Amino acid sequence: MESILIASLLLLMISTAPFSTQSLHLHLYAPDQIFDVLNYHAVGDGWTDDTQAFRDAWESTCNSSSVTPTMRIPSGFTFLLKYLTFKGPCKSNNLLVEINGIIVGPRNLSEWECRGDCEGLIVFNNVEGLSIFGSGMIDGQGSIWWECRKQQRNACERAPATLVIRDSTNVQLEGLSFVNSPRMHVKIEESTMIYASNLTITAPDESPNTDGIHIQDSQNVSIRDSHIGTGDDCISIGTGSSYINISTIACGPGHGISIGSLGRGGEDAKVEHIHVENVVFIRTSNGARIKTWQGGKGYARNIVFEKIYSISVDRPIIIDQYYCNGEKHCLNQTSAVNVSNVTYQNIFGTSSKEVAVKFACSETVACSNISMDDILISSSNGVGETSSYCLNAKGTKGEVFPMVPCLENE
Ligand SMILES: *[C@@H]1O[C@H](CO)[C@@H](O)[C@H](O)[C@H]1NC(C)=O
Ligand SMILES: *[C@@H]1O[C@H](CO)[C@@H](O)[C@H](O)[C@H]1NC(C)=O
Ligand SMILES: *[C@@H]1O[C@H](CO)[C@@H](O)[C@H](O)[C@H]1NC(C)=O
Ligand SMILES: *[C@@H]1O[C@H](CO)[C@@H](O)[C@H](O)[C@H]1NC(C)=O
Ligand SMILES: *[C@@H]1O[C@H](CO)[C@@H](O)[C@H](O)[C@H]1NC(C)=O
Ligand SMILES: *[C@@H]1O[C@H](CO)[C@@H](O)[C@H](O)[C@H]1NC(C)=O
Ligand SMILES: *[C@@H]1O[C@H](CO)[C@@H](O)[C@H](O)[C@H]1NC(C)=O
Ligand SMILES: *[C@@H]1O[C@H](CO)[C@@H](O)[C@H](O)[C@H]1NC(C)=O
Ligand SMILES: *[C@@H]1O[C@H](CO)[C@@H](O)[C@H](O)[C@H]1NC(C)=O
Repeated sequence: MESILIASLLLLMISTAPFSTQSLHLHLYAPDQIFDVLNYHAVGDGWTDDTQAFRDAWESTCNSSSVTPTMRIPSGFTFLLKYLTFKGPCKSNNLLVEINGIIVGPRNLSEWECRGDCEGLIVFNNVEGLSIFGSGMIDGQGSIWWECRKQQRNACERAPATLVIRDSTNVQLEGLSFVNSPRMHVKIEESTMIYASNLTITAPDESPNTDGIHIQDSQNVSIRDSHIGTGDDCISIGTGSSYINISTIACGPGHGISIGSLGRGGEDAKVEHIHVENVVFIRTSNGARIKTWQGGKGYARNIVFEKIYSISVDRPIIIDQYYCNGEKHCLNQTSAVNVSNVTYQNIFGTSSKEVAVKFACSETVACSNISMDDILISSSNGVGETSSYCLNAKGTKGEVFPMVPCLENE
């Protein structure tokens, strides 16, 4: 249990000390050619559509033969953008995009009308060697979409993300704030070597599907030193993802850090080598979560959750192989995503519900090689004890409270 105390001190230090970033700092190299959006007729009054000016500034940046061409979005202005794709490949592989101003999405749905690529407010596509950094903010102004969702209008099912990094490699995302996305705030897909750090992502806890960062079909991704509090998962990891490091994150409100959901509609999921550490969950509905649908295939394996502190979390540790997202008619099936080699280590704090550890695994494809050590989760209301729920989970345990009888002693 001593290591739990050490983790406690570590986490206290994390929550008070300034963040340290050890990732690449491409922008420390002096930019040798600057393309300021104001020089491309951006107005920056928050009402004029500046999409074309940004597109033109990007064209020049991307086409520049200098070593570190920089697209600059200066502070003191608010730029209204509509769906905008920054497309590569570009001439330099040391591109900088410096965002110190504010970028906002449209205020009403008619302005959000989509022509062509509508995945995100801003999409970086097919770019290699890019650093997007600064103290700027990107406000998706998503509340109109959330209202529309609540009224269940079909038009709003495909709400856009705020920032998408697609089909790109070696991209750094640093320092920025994201607020009120129509859907997920940052989406990383079909990309490799992505380093995100020092981000602040916020949306109201009741806003639908506003995940902080969603990773899909990507490898070698690091997310660190960030505060995320939204209406859905702080970070979610979808199929095709491997070698993902997540560290030093304050998460809440929200649904926790989730692997999944995986296996929906028979999907053949492949997720492995996920490492999550130094996370504080603050009043989230879940903490360390793995969620898969009945009827899926494939695997989620070699996953580590460690050095985690939960403050009044509903379900601090959960594997749910019966994930159904509140839908009707989710039948039990014989196939399931195989969950194995999952380590939980050094996790402490409180749970707001009695069942602090829940392993609801498939009848036919049990969870195997679950390993737990140095876990102490007590009740956040101070009365009553926490307990665990176990179905078809196998593995080993060291010092663990609440007791998890389905795991064997080490
Ligand atoms: C890109 O740069 C080349 C010269 O380096 C120029 O000929 C071409 O017109 C530029 N294209 C655009 C779209 O700016
Ligand atoms: C949407 O916003 C635009 C520009 O702000 C405005 O011209 C238009 O009338 C608005 N439409 C609706 C339906 O509110
Ligand atoms: C984090 O980003 C903010 C700007 O959003 C900046 O002021 C601060 O210096 C950054 N911290 C580190 C450690 O890079
Ligand atoms: C991931 O990183 C490792 C080590 O740096 C490297 O060997 C591997 O090729 C990378 N994979 C991808 C898909 O980028
Ligand atoms: C993830 O962490 C491991 C172990 O510290 C390290 O070797 C690897 O390079 C990291 N990957 C990324 C993408 O940061
Ligand atoms: C599926 O199986 C689980 C575990 O045996 C059980 O709790 C649940 O009620 C079943 N669901 C359906 C729809 O049969
Ligand atoms: C589980 O992890 C161990 C050691 O980390 C590794 O040797 C083994 O291959 C892993 N099992 C699977 C199914 O990946
Ligand atoms: C189970 O996981 C532990 C730790 O992750 C690893 O050392 C061990 O080799 C794994 N066993 C199997 C059978 O995969
Ligand atoms: C699930 O994966 C583990 C580890 O690779 C393996 O031992 C087990 O047989 C698999 N289960 C099924 C039902 O395939």
